Amino acid sequence: MSFLREHVSLKNHNTFGVQAVARWFAEIQSEADLTELFADSKLQHLPLLVLGGGSNMLFTKNFDGLVVWMNNKGIWYDLDGDEVVLTAAAGEVWNDLVNYAVDHGFAGMENLSLIPGTVGASPVQNIGAYGVELDTIFESCRAFEIKTGQFRTFTKTECGFSYRESIFKQELKGQYIITQVSYRLKEHPELHTSYGAIRDELSRRQITQPSIKDISEVVSAIRVSKLPDPSTIGNAGSFFKNPIISIDKFRQLQSVFPDIVHYPAGPDKIKLAAGWLIEQCGWKGKVKGQTGTWKNQALVLVNHGYATGNEVFAFSEEIIQSVLERFQISLEREVNII
Ligand code: EPU
Repeated sequence: MSFLREHVSLKNHNTFGVQAVARWFAEIQSEADLTELFADSKLQHLPLLVLGGGSNMLFTKNFDGLVVWMNNKGIWYDLDGDEVVLTAAAGEVWNDLVNYAVDHGFAGMENLSLIPGTVGASPVQNIGAYGVELDTIFESCRAFEIKTGQFRTFTKTECGFSYRESIFKQELKGQYIITQVSYRLKEHPELHTSYGAIRDELSRRQITQPSIKDISEVVSAIRVSKLPDPSTIGNAGSFFKNPIISIDKFRQLQSVFPDIVHYPAGPDKIKLAAGWLIEQCGWKGKVKGQTGTWKNQALVLVNHGYATGNEVFAFSEEIIQSVLERFQISLEREVNII
């Protein structure tokens, strides 16, 4: 198999830019490559890691198994009344797909502009930003079952989406490899501009009747101003999830911390801004050795050049500990630790 290699560095395959080596590494350019790869029964039983853009993981050690890098390409669509079903191969870069949709006037993805990573990762993480979560535009995905070598389609309900979660991170972890994803978009946009930062930036630009291209540009500008560019400063976006707590616990906290940033999160639940909690503990912009938090967004941990995965992980433990001590809230990592 020409696409299977041994002892491959993953440094350029993770946006944190930390060093780790894969025992086996396969670059997949088509569904047929997957079928061929897993026809080798010796590979079927190895620990498996599927990589897209490597934008949501932290390697703390070498990976003694098989890394499958999804690098298949292709974008196409079908019209369905005044809706569009847009489909892309898992290896497409997410933002390239967003640009394709925006350029074609297909609405629904524009708030998700500039999220790092690939199409195949988008349902796994149930990505979201600026008032839109992926599950609201998700139609279906096609995936390869490792055990049987069969392909199957998952509907939205079957994906079990919740905040930054899906069945692919839970019950079916390690069992399927997503090969393509379809999204249901609209030809007549319903814009999501309720997010404060979007409204502020639109009014700064004196745009009163935004197009989807305007929204995409505004969201991209907000992201660039707040988040470090992984091509210059290694990072994996938000390192922790925003915690969701009961309304009772929230009231107790609010009586002590009246400014606590919060959002409604369904019946009897409140979502807190982890970035705020971390900043309150004094961590914003902190540098520790080769790691630290980003100066404009405390939720983002960064690699200042030569950090190891273990160094970043140890730093994240310190943050968890201090947020726990001050707020009695246990932060959960959003980034996958390998
Ligand atoms: N905040 C602070 N200090 C900080 C960071 C944030 O006080 O250092 C406050 C902000 O002032 C704001 C609130 O926290 O009031 C929320 O901040 P922001 O709008 O930056 O969003 P977030 O909740 O920190 C989430 C997602 C991001 C997504 C943004 C925008 C998670 C874990 N993160 O961040 O997603 O881009 O909303 O919608 O849900 C990612 O998942 O990698 C990611 C970047």
